[in-house]
Amino acid sequence: MIIAIDGPAAAGKGTLSRQIAETYGFQHLDTGLTYRATAKALLDAGLPLDNEEVAEKIAREVELAGLDRDILSAHAIGEAASKIAVMPAVRRALVEAQRTFSQRKPGTVLDGRDIGTVVCPDAAVKLYVTASPEVRAKRRYDEILSRGGEADFAEIFADVQKRDERDMGRADSPLRPAEDAHLLDTSEMSIEAAFQAAKVIIDAAL
Ligand code: C5P
Repeated sequence: MIIAIDGPAAAGKGTLSRQIAETYGFQHLDTGLTYRATAKALLDAGLPLDNEEVAEKIAREVELAGLDRDILSAHAIGEAASKIAVMPAVRRALVEAQRTFSQRKPGTVLDGRDIGTVVCPDAAVKLYVTASPEVRAKRRYDEILSRGGEADFAEIFADVQKRDERDMGRADSPLRPAEDAHLLDTSEMSIEAAFQAAKVIIDAAL
């Protein structure tokens, strides 16, 4: 059984996906990390972000077992990830690895931008998790402050909008809800409320 969770940056997909995977005992893959790991490997090696052939080769070397959100969370890595994510050859390489993962037992939760539309179109449950750009920017802002960091709300807000444009506007696998996805707008929901809403949908499909 595959649970596909898509949505824009900072919509709360990550937390929700982890909770769902834990509750149902499923394996979880945050597919954004595969794009981030590819971007980080390119940046670390001083390789260009605009050479599709080079980026594809690096994408094929990404190890799913070594993905760590703490190491890959830097803002520059997220930016670079969304740039290489427009390249069809990079997407093909990473989607292959993601599909292989999706077959693991006893079931899987994959979260990203194109899981319900491209990676796992036959997923048993598809959720499209979203929230207004303002709410998503505020959540990211609060998260940085709570970790003792400094942040500028206007900058984060502009960033969220830029990332949305790139993810929704690209030609290959743009971010959009699958036709059979359940929409979950978490703008006015707590994490717990979003989880309960997701659970009702998943339980109905089990
Ligand atoms: O979700 P996260 O912010 O870690 O993803 C980083 C970038 O990777 C996204 O902005 C998006 O461009 C890309 N991505 C994608 N398809 C996915 C997951 C992430 O294009 N399935």
